[in-house]
Amino acid sequence: MRNILWILFLLTFSLLVPNLHAQHVLTGDIHKEKGLTCKDCHVTESKKPVSRDKCQECHGSYADLAKTTEHLDPNPHYNHTIDLDCNYCHHMHKPAVIYCRNCHQGLAFVPKPVAGKDGK
Ligand code: HEC
Ligand code: HEC
Ligand code: HEC
Ligand code: HEC
Repeated sequence: MRNILWILFLLTFSLLVPNLHAQHVLTGDIHKEKGLTCKDCHVTESKKPVSRDKCQECHGSYADLAKTTEHLDPNPHYNHTIDLDCNYCHHMHKPAVIYCRNCHQGLAFVPKPVAGKDGK
């Protein structure tokens, strides 16, 4: 019973605050939870930026990624800026940003995790 209430609470809450998870969890931490180590991305020393090829060894091509986000409009992985480096949006150790907002106001999708309530 307690579990059911807890699930209901979380469901309601996540509907009310769709970016809750988004605001607190960094993508790097999600990788850690999934059992990845630093070396899975930082092949040499930790401080070096990680190449997009490294990300794509696990996550596939932009075409593959576009399928996972085809419910989003516009599709963050398929649009006129296709082929961006992943960390234009997904940072690993700091909040993600919506790069598109450099030019567009209020594009609908919200990457998780995002920085602030408005996703900036
Ligand atoms: C899923 C891939 C991934 C994993 C796992 C990962 N990193 Fe990173 N790391 C990155 C990327 C990408 C950057 C470039 C900055 C960014 O986009 O956030 C980065 C940048 C850094 C930097 C430079 C400072 C900064 O924040 O930009 C340090 C230091 C660092 N990582 C340390 C670590 C350590 C220590 C671990 C293990 C606990 C780790 N990283 C695990 C992808 C990863
Ligand atoms: C060694 C394999 C591996 C590498 C390298 C890797 N990832 Fe991941 N990534 C994963 C796994 C596993 C998950 C969890 C997937 C799941 O739960 O379905 C994940 C999840 C994600 C997510 C979704 C996080 C969320 O909010 O649920 C994003 C975004 C992501 N990775 C981006 C990146 C980027 C950008 C890079 C390169 C800097 C990268 N990944 C490198 C394996 C990898
Ligand atoms: C223009 C910004 C942008 C760029 C660039 C970008 N992404 Fe994303 N990504 C997003 C957004 C937005 C989502 C959807 C997050 C959500 O559903 O909350 C997402 C979701 C994901 C997910 C989770 C997909 C799922 O199963 O739900 C992964 C994995 C991912 N991106 C990996 C990557 C990788 C790897 C790259 C680089 C090759 C990349 N992304 C480039 C914005 C971007
Ligand atoms: C350098 C500025 C710039 C960036 C960054 C940018 N766009 Fe655009 N975008 C434009 C311009 C200019 C147009 C054409 C506007 C028009 O024809 O009215 C456009 C048009 C569009 C359109 C079609 C017009 C519409 O409003 O339906 C979509 C969808 C779109 N962009 C999505 C994105 C997405 C998603 C991103 C991030 C991955 C992004 N844009 C990043 C400048 C930019």
